[in-house]
Amino acid sequence: MSEKVTAVSKTETPSKPTSWDLRGWMARVEELGELKHVSGAHWDVELGGIAEINNRQRGPSLLFDDIADYPSGYRVLTGTTGSATRLAATLALPTNLSDAQLVQLLRGKPQEWENQSSEFPPEYVDTGPILENVKSGDEINLLEFPVPKWHELDGGRYIGTGSVVVTKDLNSDWINLGAYRMMVHDEKTCALNMVAGKHGRQQLDRYFSEGKPFPVVVSIGHHPLLFLFAGLEVSYGISEYNYVGGILGEPVQVIKGEVTGLPMPAASELVLEGWCQPGNFKMEGPLGEFHGYYSATEKGAPVLEVERVYHRNNPIILGTPPAKPPHDYSYSKSVMRSAMLHEALEKAGVPGVVGCWADEVGGARMLLVVAIKQGYQGHARQAGLIASQCHVGAYLGRYVIVVDEDIDPSNLENVMWAVVTRSDPVRDIEFIHRAWGSKGDPQRVTFEQKVPYNTRAIIDACRAYEYLDVFPPVAEASPELEKKLRKKWKDVLGS
Ligand SMILES: Cc1cc2nc3c(=O)[nH]c(=O)nc-3n(C[C@H](O)[C@H](O)[C@H](O)COP(=O)(O)O)c2cc1C
Repeated sequence: MSEKVTAVSKTETPSKPTSWDLRGWMARVEELGELKHVSGAHWDVELGGIAEINNRQRGPSLLFDDIADYPSGYRVLTGTTGSATRLAATLALPTNLSDAQLVQLLRGKPQEWENQSSEFPPEYVDTGPILENVKSGDEINLLEFPVPKWHELDGGRYIGTGSVVVTKDLNSDWINLGAYRMMVHDEKTCALNMVAGKHGRQQLDRYFSEGKPFPVVVSIGHHPLLFLFAGLEVSYGISEYNYVGGILGEPVQVIKGEVTGLPMPAASELVLEGWCQPGNFKMEGPLGEFHGYYSATEKGAPVLEVERVYHRNNPIILGTPPAKPPHDYSYSKSVMRSAMLHEALEKAGVPGVVGCWADEVGGARMLLVVAIKQGYQGHARQAGLIASQCHVGAYLGRYVIVVDEDIDPSNLENVMWAVVTRSDPVRDIEFIHRAWGSKGDPQRVTFEQKVPYNTRAIIDACRAYEYLDVFPPVAEASPELEKKLRKKWKDVLGS
């Protein structure tokens, strides 16, 4: 794309800022000193490379403007949930918390949010900032927007990374929101890579099985809270619109799409609307993925044929490029999925769970750690097996490690110390075969099955229950002695 594109405003709807406005979120985060402006980067690998390195360094959120080939004001925002401060700002929680305090504060929250979700259905309104520009027919060109090619070996330009895909169940009113990667094929079509088994994909399959086109709206820029929960395992049948409405304590305002009638966020920056037609699948990828490797779909992904584009003046794409962790959203997914896993285990009746951690090294999926206070024989296996198969942990997991309550599950060094000292490899590693894997698994090339199953290992790194009373004591200063020594030897040990 070499020509400059000029934004045309069809309607001048006043853009009233709401708590659901990405721009309001940016103002808040800038105030907190965690937003940086970047001018002049190229959409072809440069922007993505800067974002990747910045995320790896745990830098601020970056707002890219004056992107090569595009008009000033057409922007891309990255790194929105990469720190405790930004994640807390997104969740409307206090922003002065440490990582550990944030995790602590989130204990019990997912259940609270789920419980109150029914009270916050989205509110349908007639107008909003998203209607500033409405385009159809020949006016539609997905590359009118500065869609990045994020990584060097990506197969194309991905408009959907931080996207929120809104779909509806065929036989009920359930509206689902999911984050699925979306590669631009051409001016009017893009891939919608919904993995088999995901809620959005289950909805698509039901339409296709009856030979019906699947209606879709996709928000490409929005408050990061929508993205956060579109990309997390909210329970089947619950709309993420309701769920996030409950978190902010006010309903998400939505507008019915002209073509499909599906609800799009009224304060969205950019929305695509259209249909996936039964049988229309096309190869997409590869894309540098959350586990740190490139992956492609082997049999192609559904194609979204775009019939309307809606956008605010000077729209902002919410970009959340995955990569080798730590990446754009590994921190926030790690914190959130840990809280959700804790709750899932308690809901499943596992007692004595003292902590859970979905470590960033596994992209918050492939390594889960559960700390328990053992209460009976078989307790550790129960916790590990359920963690590996509950909704939060079922997809593309690899290892679950169960540790005793004296081990901090988020401290990988301590976790591995427990593994090497308390587990016996022959006795304490359980395998699950033919679990829910993915075509995106980097080890897929080594698997022989026709469909992407994968294998799980549950490592029971707890002291064997029947030997708890004779297991050797840990050789470290007791908390009382440490406290005394720290007080007396402050100049040597620090505070
Ligand atoms: C940035 C990002 C990209 C994602 N890309 C995909 C994808 O391409 N396909 C997919 O099935 N899931 C993808 N996911 C994971 C899903 O969003 C996640 O599993 C979510 O729970 C799916 O929602 P659903 O179960 O309501 O369908 C992605 C998540 C994030 C955060």
